Amino acid sequence: MTAQRTKILVTGGAGYIGSHAVVELYQAGYQPIIIDNFSNSEESALAGIESILGTAVPTYRIDCADEEALRGVFAAEPNIAGVIHFAAFKAVGESVQKPLAYFQNNVGSLLTLLAMMPDFGVENLVFSSSCTVYGIPDSLPVTEATPTKPASSPYGRTKQMCEDVIHDVSAAPSNKLHTILLRYFNPIGAHESAKIGELPLGVPNNLVPFITQTAAGIREKLTIYGNDYDTPDGTNVRDYIHVVDLAKAHIVAVQRLLDRKGTETVETFNVGTGHGNSVLEVVQTFEQVSGQKLNYSIGPRRPGDVPAIYADATKAEQVLGFKTETSLADSLASSWKWQVALKK
Ligand code: UD1
Repeated sequence: MTAQRTKILVTGGAGYIGSHAVVELYQAGYQPIIIDNFSNSEESALAGIESILGTAVPTYRIDCADEEALRGVFAAEPNIAGVIHFAAFKAVGESVQKPLAYFQNNVGSLLTLLAMMPDFGVENLVFSSSCTVYGIPDSLPVTEATPTKPASSPYGRTKQMCEDVIHDVSAAPSNKLHTILLRYFNPIGAHESAKIGELPLGVPNNLVPFITQTAAGIREKLTIYGNDYDTPDGTNVRDYIHVVDLAKAHIVAVQRLLDRKGTETVETFNVGTGHGNSVLEVVQTFEQVSGQKLNYSIGPRRPGDVPAIYADATKAEQVLGFKTETSLADSLASSWKWQVALKK
């Protein structure tokens, strides 16, 4: 008889980061259970996951904010040991246009989840937070102790609010919840198999899919949003982390929760490489690894952009034993391999 795998519910498991985490979870011996409403993901991600793993992952096509539907999943899947909550909207610009939708979806789904978990005895949560909670930091790199600043968008505010909700819930005397907040920096790249990767709907907002689509001839040219920032080459600086590295951070976080190794009921970790790269460096590195000449020009600044941010990744390394493994060049090469595979 084969041993039962430990079940981990993955909301947004068909999405970009979620699908990579599902693969890593399964390969680490867990049984991921996917919830996704496919509002910003595609069924093809499930086929990619299945092809990598050689087995299908149980999937529930529901909205995580739909209380009745979510209850049905918990009831149908007894003994869920923990939840990784990815499901959220993530487009900064769109959040300015549709703030209510962002609060309803991002905060609403967390509230629904948190209210339900105790009913089924589920006490472990990994929450997808973002470096956006730091706003425009006073000094770099940012540590987990760097004070948060007012968010520059409703999207950013939803991440701050979700962190606050988790802290308040966890401070209640009756609380049983244990949470790890992972503050992601900028995920890029795709699985080495090129069977899963980022699938932006419509025109990408994020830099790397815009670059690969431009190189593939889908977009005419990339606009670099400003080169007059107070940074070494004038363009914004970010901490670009390979999505598989990021996915692996979830595995160590889940295991830490299950082992009750945490010293506090809510622990926060930056998940980045610890290095900053400018937009121009990303463009040049992409050109080198892909052999493609990129059509780009310098445009005006994008409202709400933070001039520079990158992680101090020391805490994740010391406490979680987590360290990124993939270089910017290899990450961008995997993005290009995925883009090329998509065109076939
Ligand atoms: C933002 C959010 C992050 C969120 C992510 C999800 C902040 C500080 N960060 O990341 O929390 O998780 O979106 O979508 O709010 N760029 C160009 N041209 C383009 C596209 C981007 O020059 O066509 C530049 C941007 O100005 C930026 C960099 O590339 O400097 C990265 O942009 P992007 O990929 O959109 O990520 P962030 O804005 O850093």
